[in-house]
Amino acid sequence: EAAEKGGYEHFMIKEIYEQPRAIRETMSSRLAKDDSHIILDELKWTKQEMAAIKKIVVVACGTAYNAGLVGKYYLESLSRIPVEVDVASEFRYRSPLVDENTLAIVVSQSGETLDTLAALKEAKRLGAKTLAITNVVGSSISREADQVIYTWAGPEIAVASTKAYTTQLVLMSMLAIYIAGLRDTISAERSRELISGLRNLPAQLHEILEDVESIKTFAQKYGFNEDVFFIGRSLDYAVALEGALKLKEISYIHAEAYAAGELKHGTLALIIEGVPVIALATQHDVYEKTLSNIKEVKARDAVVIGIAQQGDEQINKYVDHTIFIPKADKFLAPILAVLPLQLLAYYAAVTRGCDVDKPRNLAKSVTVE
Ligand code: AGP
Repeated sequence: EAAEKGGYEHFMIKEIYEQPRAIRETMSSRLAKDDSHIILDELKWTKQEMAAIKKIVVVACGTAYNAGLVGKYYLESLSRIPVEVDVASEFRYRSPLVDENTLAIVVSQSGETLDTLAALKEAKRLGAKTLAITNVVGSSISREADQVIYTWAGPEIAVASTKAYTTQLVLMSMLAIYIAGLRDTISAERSRELISGLRNLPAQLHEILEDVESIKTFAQKYGFNEDVFFIGRSLDYAVALEGALKLKEISYIHAEAYAAGELKHGTLALIIEGVPVIALATQHDVYEKTLSNIKEVKARDAVVIGIAQQGDEQINKYVDHTIFIPKADKFLAPILAVLPLQLLAYYAAVTRGCDVDKPRNLAKSVTVE
């Protein structure tokens, strides 16, 4: 096992560090050389078939569900098709409104999650076109879906999913550009902008991984707190949900993610002196709004760690510490912003002496209901 960990103490940290390479694999041969379009030769949709799609449902569990939430932003804004994201165990029992004009996308690292597989079968039974995004070739879900695209992240051993999530996000963004291309809802300029942004990601992830000392220090300093809050707006909210799940799962710290604008509708009551709040502020279009929510929690004496894009000169005035991520398009920022959250969860779990790779009560692949 030590050999498989390649010198790392845990599979999780090894897999965190594998992300630049994993993402490169996800993109390899799928970006046109001149950045003009996405190549997904696996997909056999015609322009007419895509024009007939009236709705997309994304169905998954856990981290894959959180990836689906990011995917909703990508797919809706680029292809202009309404997207619903559902937890597989809910979708399969709620008599979903799905028909032959629906595209059902199931997301699963393992391709074996029972609820996701059952949801896929239900969508098929109702006549939907189905697509699986998975990491495991030949898995049950890959065999059941009409079409499949692989994340090519390589084996993920740690129970806590890391590289599967970031590669799912990369693939979701490529899929959204691809579908938008078929539907003529994306300009050549925007497509090129996003594709060249995707190309920069491996180097940018590498940059984050080169200097993790401050993240380690925060984890050691706040790792014994019993509650942590994650806030963000828009895509930052989706990433906050993943950050909270990661922290709960491996460090057993109670964590909640909240859409920053919702704070005053309940959670603000829990913000008291010294409570750590991780505030994501990478989305420029809602930046000022997020800052005002940061001020709300600061006014209650929370300890705020901001996650912001490099070049942000304002944030330091409002937070206690900032972790900067390399500058990126707002669509691609989640793929970078989740890294500090994965690392925080990892180092908090290590600080608390938890069994990082095999957290209590959890299995890597949930093949029962
Ligand atoms: C993530 O860290 C989890 N361990 C878990 O939520 C996982 O993402 C979920 O069980 C779905 O698994 P799948 O992607 O293999 O379907």
